[in-house]
Amino acid sequence: PGGGRVFSGIQPTGVPHLGNYLGALENWVALQSQYPSVLYSIVDLHSITQPQDPAQLRSNILDMAASLLACGIDPKRAILFQQSQVSEHAELSWILGCLTSMPRLRHLPQWKIVGAVITMKSKQKNEGSVGLYTYPVLQAADILLYKSTHVPVGEDQVQHLELAQDLARIFNNRYGDLFPEPGALLSSTRKVKSLRDPSAKMSKSDPHVMATISITDSPDDIALKIRRAVTDFTSEVTFDPEKRPGVSNLVTIHAAVAKIGAEEAVSQARGLDTGAYKKLVTEAVIQRLTPIREEIERLRSDRAHLEAVLTRGTLRARELAAPVLNEVRRRVGF
Ligand code: ADP
Ligand code: NA
Repeated sequence: PGGGRVFSGIQPTGVPHLGNYLGALENWVALQSQYPSVLYSIVDLHSITQPQDPAQLRSNILDMAASLLACGIDPKRAILFQQSQVSEHAELSWILGCLTSMPRLRHLPQWKIVGAVITMKSKQKNEGSVGLYTYPVLQAADILLYKSTHVPVGEDQVQHLELAQDLARIFNNRYGDLFPEPGALLSSTRKVKSLRDPSAKMSKSDPHVMATISITDSPDDIALKIRRAVTDFTSEVTFDPEKRPGVSNLVTIHAAVAKIGAEEAVSQARGLDTGAYKKLVTEAVIQRLTPIREEIERLRSDRAHLEAVLTRGTLRARELAAPVLNEVRRRVGF
């Protein structure tokens, strides 16, 4: 591309799973060498839309920093920082919120999801927070604060990015051109499915421990989870996500970790029944995750280093954010 600035964020909710890695983080790593300016934020302000234990949150932030570094985020090529330490995010979010109409906000998909959460939680007299309704405005602020041009997103986030685009336009119309309209980088359509229920995606919120492979899982855990993965009654390995979601999920995972196409993965499975193929997939996953797991373990024992990386990233992010926010403030009339 030549120019442009990439921004993306990830919530500090513990160590990422294989779906996060293959569906998002691997692409984050690649973008570092494709764009001259790249920012990745551990978005702790977003994480408190739901209740968090403070000590746990602090440790999750460092775990996420360790995970991102171990996956290949390079602080020399990307600004890696903690969102809450750059207070400009919260301030711009307020200003953008004042440019957002309620009907526009209600247009967003999470109202339905939030509706479900409220239905669930209201039984415990614990309704969803206001932050849970308005966090897409904070996402818009995260992106626009750096005048970002490219935002890697999953399909589920496209409508949120559209709000950021609308808010850039609304601001520019009212106060004069300032923000570029950020475009979506649809990172990959690769979806890793739950090992227990291949009709659902692999997700950290899945309560079934066997459904999700964490990038810090031991080789034994990985082997056990893949051995127990749901397949079907055909022993031959084929790739047919519609009719054979379980086996196809293993092919997807195998292809992704071995960096080969699905066809090549299937051809490597020729002559193997699904049981034997699971061993091959297990080996490929272990080979891919072992260096990452070891690096996370190493980094976790060097808390001072992790904190230093985040502090440096925060300073660099502030350097970019402060002049933009100052200009916003001036235009608004503050
Ligand atoms: P989760 O669904 O586990 O809560 P998040 O919603 O926090 O994960 O997603 C973080 C990033 O990882 C997003 O970019 C999302 O698109 C990607 N991602 C999450 N789950 C998967 C999956 N099963 N397969 C591929 N990508 C995924
Ligand atoms: Na999620």
